[in-house]
Amino acid sequence: MQILDGKSLSLKIKAKAKEDIKILKAKDVTPGLAVVVIGDDIASHTYVKMKEKACEDIGIYSIVHKMPNDISEDKIIETIQMMNKNPNIDGILIQLPLPKHIDTDRVLQTVTSTKDVDGFHPFNVGKLALNLDTFIPCTPLGVMKLLNHYDINPKGLDVCIVGASNIVGKPMMNLLLNADATVDICHIYTKDLKAHTLRADLLIVGVGKVNLITEDMVKEGAIVIDIGINRKDDGKLTGDVDYENVAKKCSFITPVPGGVGPMTIAMLLENSIKAARSRIND
Ligand code: GUN
Repeated sequence: MQILDGKSLSLKIKAKAKEDIKILKAKDVTPGLAVVVIGDDIASHTYVKMKEKACEDIGIYSIVHKMPNDISEDKIIETIQMMNKNPNIDGILIQLPLPKHIDTDRVLQTVTSTKDVDGFHPFNVGKLALNLDTFIPCTPLGVMKLLNHYDINPKGLDVCIVGASNIVGKPMMNLLLNADATVDICHIYTKDLKAHTLRADLLIVGVGKVNLITEDMVKEGAIVIDIGINRKDDGKLTGDVDYENVAKKCSFITPVPGGVGPMTIAMLLENSIKAARSRIND
C-alpha cells in the first residue's frame, strides 16, 4: 500500500507557483484573489484563513470580504459586480455554503466567468463537460493532479464516486469521463452502495460522513481517495473512510489530513495564476 501524499505534492506545486508569480510580477502583474465569506460558519472561516495564508506565502494579493449572516442578497451581488470590474482582482471565490436565505445559484452566476477560479459558473461547468479549457473546481482538479503525480492513469478504470455535489462529485465525474474512465456516481438515494463501491478500481468518496466506507466495501488492490473532512469528538480531523482497516486492502490511499485537502488549496493558487495570466494574454 502506498500513501498518496497530497501535502508533499502541494508544497512542490506552491514552490513552482511562487516562481511563476515572480515572472508575472516582472511583467507588472500581481495576481489578485478576492474571497467572500458570509456568516459565521467556523469551518468556512478556517478554510478562508488557510486560503489567505497560502496566497500570502507565494505572493498573491488577496482580500477577504467578510459579510454578516443577515446580509441581503442584493448587497452580495453588488459587491461581486464591483470585483468583476476591479482590474486588480483576477479571481473571485465565494466560500460555500451560503446562508439559507441567499440564492446560491444567483450569487455564483454573478461572478464573471473569466474570474471564476472555483469553476462554479454554469459557463465553465459546461466547458468542463465538453472537455474544453476552463477553470476546473479545485478539489477534483487536485485529485486528478495527485493521480497523475503517482502515474495512475484513469483510462479504462472502473471508478465509483460517492457524493454527487456540484463542487466535488459532478466535476470529478466529468474529469474522469474526459480521462476515459468508466464512471459510476452514487448518492444518498443509491439503493445498495456497497454493490457499487466493491466494483471500483478507483473509489472516490466525498460525503462528510465518518466511517461511511468500511473494509468490506472495498475491492482488494483498489485506489481510494478520501475527500471527506470531518471533525471527531476529540477535535481531530478524519475522512469518510475507515482508514486503518481500508488501507490494508488498497494499492494507494489518501490520508486525512494530508491528502486531498492541501491539493485543493494548491489548485486555487494555480487557478488564480491562470486568471492573472489571461489578464496579459500570457
Ligand atoms: N466550500 C467547500 N468546498 C469549497 C470549495 O472548494 N470552494 C468554495 N468556494 N467553497 C467551498
